Amino acid sequence: MGASTGIGRALAINYASDNTILGLGARRVELLEELKEECELRNCETFIYENDVNIPLNCEKSAQDFIKKAKGIDIIIANSGVGSSDHLFSGSSEKINNVLHTNILGVTNTIVPFLIQMQKQKRGKVVVVSSVASFIPIPHKGGYSASKVAVRRLFDSWRPILSDYGINTISICPGFIDTPMTKKILFKPFLKDVNTAALAFIKVIEKNKKTYVYPWQMNVLTKLINLLPQFIIDSLVYRSKNRITKYDKN
Ligand SMILES: NC(=O)c1ccc[n+]([C@@H]2O[C@H](COP(=O)([O-])OP(=O)(O)OC[C@H]3O[C@@H](n4cnc5c(N)ncnc54)[C@H](OP(=O)(O)O)[C@@H]3O)[C@@H](O)[C@H]2O)c1
Repeated sequence: MGASTGIGRALAINYASDNTILGLGARRVELLEELKEECELRNCETFIYENDVNIPLNCEKSAQDFIKKAKGIDIIIANSGVGSSDHLFSGSSEKINNVLHTNILGVTNTIVPFLIQMQKQKRGKVVVVSSVASFIPIPHKGGYSASKVAVRRLFDSWRPILSDYGINTISICPGFIDTPMTKKILFKPFLKDVNTAALAFIKVIEKNKKTYVYPWQMNVLTKLINLLPQFIIDSLVYRSKNRITKYDKN
C-alpha cells in the first residue's frame, strides 16, 4: 500500500517480474494505472486498488480480492504515509491528526486484513516503513515522529506472536530518501536515491531482518543520539528547528 510514488513505486518496479503477482494500492489511481503498465512490461501480473488507508472497509475488500486472485499472500508492505508538519499554532488539530491517523491506523488497516490468510498458510512477511524519525525527534514534525515510533513498537509487539505462525515482521527505518515527500526538506544528510534504497529494502525483506535503519550512517547516528542525555537531544532539536522545511512550519 502506498505504491503510487516514491519508495512504494520503486519497490513495485523492482519486485515486478514474471514470477511475481503484485497488488498495488493508493488513492491516486491514475498513477497506479501507469505503474501497472510498467510492471506488465516486465511480464508481472498486476492488480491495482484505489484505496485510502484511513478507511478500514476499503482495505479489507482489497485484501480479500487480492488473496482470491493471487491464491494467497507472501509479503504485505505498509508503506503509505504522510509527512506534514504539526501546525501547532493553527488553532486546529486536523493536520497533526491526519498524520497520526494515516501513519498509524493506516498501517493496521493495511496489515490486519491479511493476517488471517498468513495464519492459515503458516507463512508470510509483514513489512512497515517506519523512519529514522522514530529514533530522532524531528522539530515541527512531532506527529510524524510519534507515528513512526508507534508502528515500530507495534511491530516489536507483534513479532513474537506472529512468529508462532511462520510470519516474519520487518520494520524498515529510512533516513532521507529522494522522493516527493522530502522535496521541501532543506537539510537532508546522507540522502539516498529511491531506487538504491528500494533494492536495499528488498534485500533485508528477503533476509527477514527485524529492524533495519538505512543508510548505515543513519544507523550509527541513531545509536549515538540515543546515548545522549535528554537535555542535549532537546538542544540539538532546538538548533535544527529552522533547517528542516521550507514552507510547512506553523
Ligand atoms: N522519503 C523519505 O526520506 C522517508 C524517510 C523515512 C520514512 N519514509 C516513509 O516512507 C513511506 C513512503 O514515503 P515516500 O518518501 O515514498 O513518499 P511519497 O512519495 O509521498 O509516497 C507516499 C505514498 O503514500 C501514499 N498515501 C498517502 N496517504 C495515503 C492514504 N490516505 N491512503 C493510501 N495511500 C496513501 C501515497 O499515495 P496517494 O497519495 O496516491 O494515496 C504515496 O503512494 C512513508 O511511510 C514515509 O513516511 C520516507
